[in-house]
This record gives sequence, structure tokens and C-alpha cells, in this order.
Amino acid sequence: MKYDYVIVGAGLFGAVFAHEMSKKGKKCLVIDKRDHLGGNVYCEDVEGINVHKYGAHIFHTNDKKIWDYVNSFVEFNRYTNSPIANYKGELYNLPFNMNTFYQLWKVKTPEEAKAKIQEQVEASGIKKPQNLEEQAISLVGKDIYEKLIKGYTEKQWGRKATELPAFIIKRLPVRFTYDNNYFNDKYQGIPIGGYNKLVEALLKGIETKVGVDYFEEKEKYDSLADRVVFTGKIDEYFNYQYGKLEYRSLDFQHETLDTPNYQGNAVVNYTEADIPFTRIIEHKHFEFGKQDKTVITREYPKEWEEGSEPYYPVNDKKNSEVYQKYKKLAEQSDKVIFGGRLAEYKYYDMHQVIASALARASKEE
Ligand code: FDA
Repeated sequence: MKYDYVIVGAGLFGAVFAHEMSKKGKKCLVIDKRDHLGGNVYCEDVEGINVHKYGAHIFHTNDKKIWDYVNSFVEFNRYTNSPIANYKGELYNLPFNMNTFYQLWKVKTPEEAKAKIQEQVEASGIKKPQNLEEQAISLVGKDIYEKLIKGYTEKQWGRKATELPAFIIKRLPVRFTYDNNYFNDKYQGIPIGGYNKLVEALLKGIETKVGVDYFEEKEKYDSLADRVVFTGKIDEYFNYQYGKLEYRSLDFQHETLDTPNYQGNAVVNYTEADIPFTRIIEHKHFEFGKQDKTVITREYPKEWEEGSEPYYPVNDKKNSEVYQKYKKLAEQSDKVIFGGRLAEYKYYDMHQVIASALARASKEE
């Protein structure tokens, strides 16, 4: 055999797996159907700005091992995600914290803020929430729900909040400090110079081919190695024999503007229902860019259909049952390892997919 592993997909799962196996002296070939490496963390250089082509990616983790691992390939900056919400022209800090409560009600102390939320929760009279709207109001009251949750969530899911199940929102983090840091994790940041640096370092010295769809030459690639690592869609691998798994997708509309600073922040959410996009990303702020121009991206959520990018798995009962059937088939294969967000039909953050690839690689001889 020419290779020990043929790895289908040059996203983080494929790249980390390939790196770890190469360290053990194994010969790997990594292929990807896109015309670049990196999967969804790939960035495109526009006007010297790293544009997150498949959606904004902010690295965050509590796991020191994973943080040290990624930092061993590329240094990370100190970017801290602190999104702004724009509701009908009013601006609010996220996540919900003392700044938000001051902006909503002019309350200044945690005690006043707690009392205000409690008053609205009690006024709702909701004891057993029957849908997402009731669930959210029963947790944070109607002001936060109507201004900051309702429109955004309805755009994200393409359905009315009263038609969405309550379980989608288990809890809504409310912080009674003046702290706009979105993530609670100990570590967060963006690779200095962009995510491509991380992927290039992981794949350094490993043979790669882009613009190659595994399914178009499956037999050839299967015959090149003892084992195949597949990180594409599991339903596609099994010819959709149990039906198609559903996803939510996104349309990204990128625009280059002749101004150095469009919105003063990397992430601004638009939380009213009438504006069709959910947020505007201004990429340069992830890396404190000083370029003369800027690139912004409007995000429009949409249903997934053949030909569009499958972004978020819809982990409802119907899809979970279909996935379990594919998983059984996958477990019967001695040759193929299925890993990553598409093959496991699972939303993984970057640190989680890296941990999963490291764990899988450590099981191999
Ligand atoms: P990934 O999709 O990256 O790679 C799979 C690769 O397989 C793709 O490149 C694909 O082209 C290739 N492939 C598929 N079929 C093939 C075939 N037949 N032949 C050849 N190649 C094939 N996480 C986080 O920690 N912080 C964040 O801020 C975000 N933000 C974010 C925004 C959006 C919009 C999404 C959808 C996701 C995030 N994430 C995130 C999650 C992050 O994107 C995710 O954890 C990793 O990209 C998953 O890496 P994988 O290798 O599993 O998949």
C-alpha cells in the first residue's frame, strides 16, 4: 500500500489526525473536495484581512492541554469576543450582563437588576413553558426576550418562537457583573496571522490534494491505503440509504468597504425580526487590523438544500434516529474511521473536534 491512511477532508479533524499519525511515522494522504485546506476554519485574504469564509471562528476552551496544543503550532492573540446587539437602532452589550441591564432599564446595581428580571418573570405567570417563547420569558422576562432573543432566534431557525420546542433553550446565562466577555472559558483568541497558519503547520510535510471529491474516485483512494479516515457527510458515504440528514445553512454576503472601521466591533447581532440577516461580522477586528479598507459579512440563515453548505445539524428526534442507523453501519467497517462534525452529525466547537481527533489518533498503533 502506498499510504497508511487516506484522510478525506482537510478540516481540523483530518489535519490533527494526519499530524498525529505522521508523528508516529505513518504515511498519510489528505484530500479535500474544496480548492483549499482547512475545512470550515479556512480564511481568505482580502485586502490583507483574513476573512472567515465559512463563518466567524473564535477559539475558546477551558482545556489547557488543547490550548497548549494549538499554541504549539501558532501563537494566538488576546481577542475577547464581546458582541453588540442592535435592536431597532438601540445598542446593547452581550452576553446579558450589568451593562445590558443598565441599557435596558437604567438599573445600576445587581440587586436592582435581579429584582427587575424577577418582577417580569413573575408577571408572565408561566409555570410550565410549552414552547421556546414561554421558556425564554420564564427565565429572563419579557424585555430581554422581546428585544434580544425573539427576532434573532426566529431568524436562526426560520420558525416562530411559539412553534419552536422549549428544550432548545435550557438556560440563559445572566451575569450580574459589568463583564462583556461572551465566553466563560479560561482561554480564547485567534491565531496571529489567521487560521490557515494553524492548518498549514498541522499539515506541514504531509501530502495533500485539494479539488478532489473522494466519491468520484472512491475505489482508487480506497486502494491506496490500509485505512481511510472519512470526515465528510455520513449519509452521503452510505448513499443516503436511510434518507438525508437535515442541516441549517447560512448565506454569507461579503462586502469590501472603503473605510477603515465600519462598526467598531467584530460581531454585531441584529435582533429584530424585520432585518433578514442575523449579524454582521467585521473580520479585521478579530486581529486588531489596521488596514485602510474593511470587509464585512452579513449572515442570512436558511434551510439546507443540496448544493448549499451543511452547517448546523438539526439534532431533533427524526434526524437523530436516522443518524443512529448510519452510525451502526459505520461501526461495522474495519477499514474506515468516521470522524468530525459531518461524519458524526454533531455540532463540534474547534477545541472539541481537536480533542476528538487526538483521542481517535491515540487509539491507532
Ligand atoms: P470541516 O467541515 O471543517 O472539514 C470537513 C472537510 O471534509 C471539508 O473541508 C470538506 O470539504 C471535506 N469533504 C467533505 N466531503 C468530502 C468528499 N466527498 N471528498 C473530499 N473532501 C470532502 N467553533 C468554535 O470553536 N468557535 C467558533 O466561533 C465557531 N464558529 C462556527 C461558525 C459556523 C458558521 C460553523 C458552521 C461552525 C463554527 N465552529 C466554531 C465549529 C467549527 O467550524 C468546527 O468545529 C470545525 O470546523 C470542524 O472541523 P471538521 O474537520 O469536523 O469539519
